[in-house]
Amino acid sequence: MALITRYALLLLTAASCALHTLGLPTTDAASDNTLTWDDAYTKARSIVHRMSLEQKVGLATGMGWEKTLCVGNTYASTNPNFPSLCLQDSPLGIRFADNVTAGVSGITAAASFDKVAIRQRGEYMASEFKAKGVHFQLGPSVDIMRAPQSGRAWEGFGEDPWLSGVAGRETITGIQSQGVIATVKHYIGNSQETHRTTSSSNIDKRTLHEVWTWPYARAVEAGVGAIMCSYNLVDDTYACENDYILNTVLKNEMGFRGLVMSDWGATHSTVESANAGLDMTMPGDILMGDGFTYFGANLTKAVQDGQVSDDRVTDMALRITAAYYKMRQDEGYPDTTLNTFNRSEAPEVLVQGDHATFVREIGAAGVVLLRNQDNILPLKTSDLKKIALIGSHAGPIPQGLNGCPDQSCGRGHLAMGWGSGTADFPYLITPTDGITARAGGNLKLVHTYDDYDLDGARELAADADIAIVFAMADAGEEYIVVNGNNDRQNLSLWNNGDNLIQAVSEVNDNVIVVINAVGPVLMPWIDHENIKAVVWPGLAGQESGNSLADVLFGDVNPSGRLPYTIARNKDDYGAHISSDAELDYSEKLLVGYKWFDAKGIDPLFEFGYGLSYTNFEYSGLSARVTRKQGAGAQVIASITLSNTGDRDGAEIPQAYIAFPKSAGEPPKLLRGFQKVFLQAGEQKAIDFEFTEKELSVWDEESEMWKHSEGEFTVHIGASSRDIRASASFII
Ligand code: BGC
Repeated sequence: MALITRYALLLLTAASCALHTLGLPTTDAASDNTLTWDDAYTKARSIVHRMSLEQKVGLATGMGWEKTLCVGNTYASTNPNFPSLCLQDSPLGIRFADNVTAGVSGITAAASFDKVAIRQRGEYMASEFKAKGVHFQLGPSVDIMRAPQSGRAWEGFGEDPWLSGVAGRETITGIQSQGVIATVKHYIGNSQETHRTTSSSNIDKRTLHEVWTWPYARAVEAGVGAIMCSYNLVDDTYACENDYILNTVLKNEMGFRGLVMSDWGATHSTVESANAGLDMTMPGDILMGDGFTYFGANLTKAVQDGQVSDDRVTDMALRITAAYYKMRQDEGYPDTTLNTFNRSEAPEVLVQGDHATFVREIGAAGVVLLRNQDNILPLKTSDLKKIALIGSHAGPIPQGLNGCPDQSCGRGHLAMGWGSGTADFPYLITPTDGITARAGGNLKLVHTYDDYDLDGARELAADADIAIVFAMADAGEEYIVVNGNNDRQNLSLWNNGDNLIQAVSEVNDNVIVVINAVGPVLMPWIDHENIKAVVWPGLAGQESGNSLADVLFGDVNPSGRLPYTIARNKDDYGAHISSDAELDYSEKLLVGYKWFDAKGIDPLFEFGYGLSYTNFEYSGLSARVTRKQGAGAQVIASITLSNTGDRDGAEIPQAYIAFPKSAGEPPKLLRGFQKVFLQAGEQKAIDFEFTEKELSVWDEESEMWKHSEGEFTVHIGASSRDIRASASFII
């Protein structure tokens, strides 16, 4: 059941024309079945140069909300022929479709810290999108979790840009290897739902480059075909008409050669947007469903009036068609068989294969074990007679499977957040289902799904050998509000969770708490001596209960790690949701754990934390400067890892770099991790390579990445606070 757990260091594939890219390979030679951009552009030119202005504009214009088969479609062109392209959510599976897989969310994929699994997730998802004739998957999201309450952070990969960059790159490579265009989103500074279309994210240029655009630069290096600009403004200009972030940073500095599409309804002008670098307006309408558009005839007229150049529209068409050719979609692409707005009229097309097996595996790989006292886990079935399962969250969704719009039920077992970043469940294995299937007939399971009957819960738990209490915290996208939340109003558990955990802990001294949450929660009960284990399975999708049971019963040795910080108090965090129109990113580089490090605040569970059923030791760290030109590596750190326990398992060694003081960086930055599988007693030497870019800072004066010079330290450990070895090197 264990996933592939070893991973050789990946060389980044880089865009060929990135201007300021340091130390990265300079070719986009496709290692992933896609054409190089150069070859794709050759094909694109041969068709676009035969198109009229109107035809080129048509490629760049959506056909309108609820007018087509997909959430977005472009106009087709006839003579020369180019098809209408289908764009569909979501980052975790096909939205508005039947017979599809509803897998783990981005945040749980990130928690696996498993590059191979993250890539395979991209591959299986895209195989489904392709089989249904979808040209663009609207994902991955690499929005960084700036504030823990943020409503959509679960769609992305957590609080760290480097982790988001790796997870984004692997997802994109996986998606595009299947011939589907990945759409990385939401560019940029889209870090809260509150006032998302009217607030301005104000980010200084250094922070913009080092934190916010970092994952996009990695996406561009991976050859991403499309980037979605976000709803919000950036420094008081809408993201989708922001010349600096689209033209200067994305297209010139990063050398992005694919297309920029608007988020749905995020275009606010014709001339400004076109000239600032927007290449496609989605879903076409000015206001969703109004039938008007800023592109279409308005863009044609703007060209005729000389306000937008013909070259700019040609460039839009080239970027769109090049993305299509790069993914070889001209070599026989399935017809679109979705029918987003008339689901019952969609033909039955089965695309799921055995993806459920993989979803179960990556779900288990994403389980983070936060506490395990007295080795209560894995459960020893031979010693146990009765387990009580407590909390509605262990059971089915009371409103029914897919019973609420875009998964906004907020009750029952939580396996994804809500909003456009969802897919319908084909089925949902709840914790009760998964545990029942694994426990076998000899172990008695009792349950209550009443979160408010605390006496009933106490009674049920009192004579059980073990009581497992289930709780959750949900969040989602702005257009749906559940109990006052899209961004979370607080960091507490939902549905009386804290009281339930407290009540059960009063009567049973072997309590295991299982929390499925969209992000961090407060744990006022954490110091209770009867709470022996805390398990954190994230948002695991349709196989959730099976993935959980695999870890609880020890079929999988947990190796998931927190992709964000769980603080003791809400106020410990460096950023929060704000209802101000001007969102100043005043924490600058101190996003996530960097804030806690810089301010000397102890988190409850730190970024990168997670336990195993075995033990690992680290020894013999060395770091050497190689100055290898072109190949990416400038410094290599080597360390030996040993599994000193009596179970096989995977460790996630993490490399953090402390820059020379003069660089003005946070105390340490994640710059490497690997998932290393070791049998009991086995040891292995592993290398981390750091590129020049990873050892550079963004210099505001020269507006370039600049090499830091002086003494660096590499810290290698099992989490951001569990550093096992450090070594210095001088550049
Ligand atoms: C979301 C995007 C999504 C789009 C299309 C927007 O509301 O922000 O992430 O892809 O809708 O559904």
